[in-house]
Amino acid sequence: MEYYIDSGNLTKIKELINWLPIDGVTINPSLVSLERKRLFSLIEEILTVCDGRVHVQVLANSEKDIIEETLKLHSFSERIIVKIPVSKVGLAAIKKIDTEEIDITATAVFGVSQALAAAKCGAKYIAPYVSRLDKIEQSGVKLVEEIKKTIDAAGYSSKIIAASIKNANQVKELLKLGIESITLSPEILVQAHTHFLTDKAIEMFEEDWLREYNTLSIEADLKS
Ligand code: G3P
Repeated sequence: MEYYIDSGNLTKIKELINWLPIDGVTINPSLVSLERKRLFSLIEEILTVCDGRVHVQVLANSEKDIIEETLKLHSFSERIIVKIPVSKVGLAAIKKIDTEEIDITATAVFGVSQALAAAKCGAKYIAPYVSRLDKIEQSGVKLVEEIKKTIDAAGYSSKIIAASIKNANQVKELLKLGIESITLSPEILVQAHTHFLTDKAIEMFEEDWLREYNTLSIEADLKS
């Protein structure tokens, strides 16, 4: 199971990488714009703090320009996986890119057929947007389940990277589906991996210890 940080914020990326087993970072034009940096400078900084892979999205909206941006991003670093939204021109571009050579994430996926077409064109990852479907009263988790079943049944090797996730319950439901990867905002990563009862348990261990020993040290002497 691969975990990605869905953010371009270096402080948050560094903090999370320090304590969680993170496989990489995902960014998109909206997340990049929040950091107010030039794209390639930001990518360079992310690649320096994170030794995993970085999914970076193209901005172009014609087949030719998407291919050109893809080649530019790929030549910048082999650790970049190029994200291409699954519009008509996006799929046309993925179809023409040598996906044996360049890893592609087909992104902004909202339907099973879009996912299957991207898998058939050779996309390494398929990124369905869970919460954006929930917002229009459909189930994002259900879509991921259907995509997983369809891709597995068709025998494609594309991995699902679930995206646009807004709470820890969605994370739990998605993990149960056996998907290969997930990208989470720093806030949801913290929410999913911490529990107030864990903090409470530690607090109680310390209180019990301090009743009998002088300090919080495993070499402490007993109180006299
Ligand atoms: O990677 C981007 C995807 O996670 C979109 O998330 O929160 O903008 O719906 P959101």
